Amino acid sequence: VANHFESGVLAGVSVVITAGPTREAIDPVRYITNHSSGKMGYALAEAARDAGARVTLISGPVTLQPPERVKLVRVNSALDMLQAAESELEHCEIFIASAAVADYRPATVAEQKMKKSGDEMSIELVKNPDIVATVAAHTPHPFTVGFAAETQDVEHYARGKLASKNLDMIVANDVSRKDIGFNSDNNAATVYWPEGQQTFDTMNKHLLARELVAILASRFSAN
Ligand code: CTP
Ligand code: CA
Repeated sequence: VANHFESGVLAGVSVVITAGPTREAIDPVRYITNHSSGKMGYALAEAARDAGARVTLISGPVTLQPPERVKLVRVNSALDMLQAAESELEHCEIFIASAAVADYRPATVAEQKMKKSGDEMSIELVKNPDIVATVAAHTPHPFTVGFAAETQDVEHYARGKLASKNLDMIVANDVSRKDIGFNSDNNAATVYWPEGQQTFDTMNKHLLARELVAILASRFSAN
């Protein structure tokens, strides 16, 4: 890995990374979200920067410090994240979707704070657009890397997403493991691409980010 960084394996390459959760508003004071910390995406942004890339980080709400020498675009909702991603596409050579995008959003956002009334209430949800699949459907499209958070049949679901979203690579995490993932400083992953795969055992997210940048740079230049 060290050699890749000394040689600036992504020198001058434009990389766009989505990171963190999205927030889907219910009313002016409430929203739906998830436990994504953004740590993996921020670590990838730093690793890509250190490999010489020009990095844009499209980030949902997280508590992390913005990395230096990285263009940070802050967004809240999945719809905002999609718009930000599409407006960065013109000069994007590698797109990495590490964000934990909410799959659904409330069908309507109440203008005023909702008042409690009956003993039960329900919120109608509608599907959000798939950001990484939208990016990969463009012609031409950047080298596109997705993530897959799975609790079972990791390879089966990850390879399914690789194919159905037209991705060049996918990084799969087993989120059923209590020791790693979401809010942890460590992570383990298996990377799949159409002709191969590589597994990285549990390690610090910063180290894993460097390994991931090294392997995606080699797949990117083989493309
Ligand atoms: N993703 C995205 N836009 C969405 C949902 C997911 O860009 N609306 C991206 C994620 O950033 C990730 C990949 O798609 O790179 C896979 O996300 P994941 O939640 O694992 O897969 P889904 O396709 O949403 O399927 P499911 O949640 O049902 O497993
Ligand atoms: Ca999902």
